[in-house]
Amino acid sequence: MTAAGHARRSCLAVPGSNPKMLDKAQGLPADQVFLDLEDAVAPLAKPGARKNIVAALSEGEWTGKARVVRVNDLTSPWTYQDVIEVVEGAGGHLDAIMLPKVQEASHVQWLDLTLTQLERTLGLPVGGIGIEAQIENARGLVNVDAIATASPRVETIIFGPADFMASLNMKSLVVGALHPDYPGDPYHYILMRILMAARTHDLQAVDGPYLQIRDVEGFREVAQRSAALGFDGKWVLHPDQIEVANEVYSPAQADYDRAELILDAYEYYTSEAGGKLGAVMLGDEMIDEASRKMALVIAAKGQAAGMVRTESFTPPDQL
Ligand code: GLV
Ligand code: MG
Repeated sequence: MTAAGHARRSCLAVPGSNPKMLDKAQGLPADQVFLDLEDAVAPLAKPGARKNIVAALSEGEWTGKARVVRVNDLTSPWTYQDVIEVVEGAGGHLDAIMLPKVQEASHVQWLDLTLTQLERTLGLPVGGIGIEAQIENARGLVNVDAIATASPRVETIIFGPADFMASLNMKSLVVGALHPDYPGDPYHYILMRILMAARTHDLQAVDGPYLQIRDVEGFREVAQRSAALGFDGKWVLHPDQIEVANEVYSPAQADYDRAELILDAYEYYTSEAGGKLGAVMLGDEMIDEASRKMALVIAAKGQAAGMVRTESFTPPDQL
């Protein structure tokens, strides 16, 4: 099974070198966990982290969460061993591999072919393990469309702000925050470019980490910016960030109710019984086919978040 169906509002990073956190993460209300072999794990700890991750995936209880492992990037000496050890050990308990610092389509193609070989050898469904591609530098962003279409396994494009800031020589140390010297959002273009690729190719778009983990309001502000653009979710590094991400990347209850109402009303008014109307008033708002499309987006986000509507539509002749 791929993880394509999972909502990705909160994506919890868990260092593979920390068995206590691998254990604790199972009880936290994140939509996705990614067990990290890359930057949260010191080089000397990587072999041990692979073993911890295999054990946590095989023996842990991850129901309701997409299970993802972030391997090391393809300029490192560790990637192939990460993939082989994790998939051989726990490939049947894994939804996707996250590949960081992807710079060109061939990186994804390498992972796709390697996964296909492993799945065939291990008797797993071919194509069952998805790929999440992390865009972390200018080269990756310039090639993002080719990366998005390099394999049908690609499910998600992720913004890696910390590495991206370093790669651009940005004059800041606070990841994702606005810069006092810049009269706008320095990340706007990058976020939008990733979002365009994700929407063009029907993939999820996920925002990266906010490292000031004690500053929950700072996290909320950064998350609200990418959520407002249309991002599906964001990484979380601490339990306190999970609740905020789940809230920020879900619609407000009133918006969810309104979206469901628009869908019902539009279905009624366009029907024979409703008068075959294409544009009608719903309260003070004129709704038409474009309203239906916007409402579908909000309704889908609400349904994915498990929201329950609190209003229903009554046709005017039944009022
Ligand atoms: C995450 O990997 C980042 O670089 O922000
Ligand atoms: Mg990174």
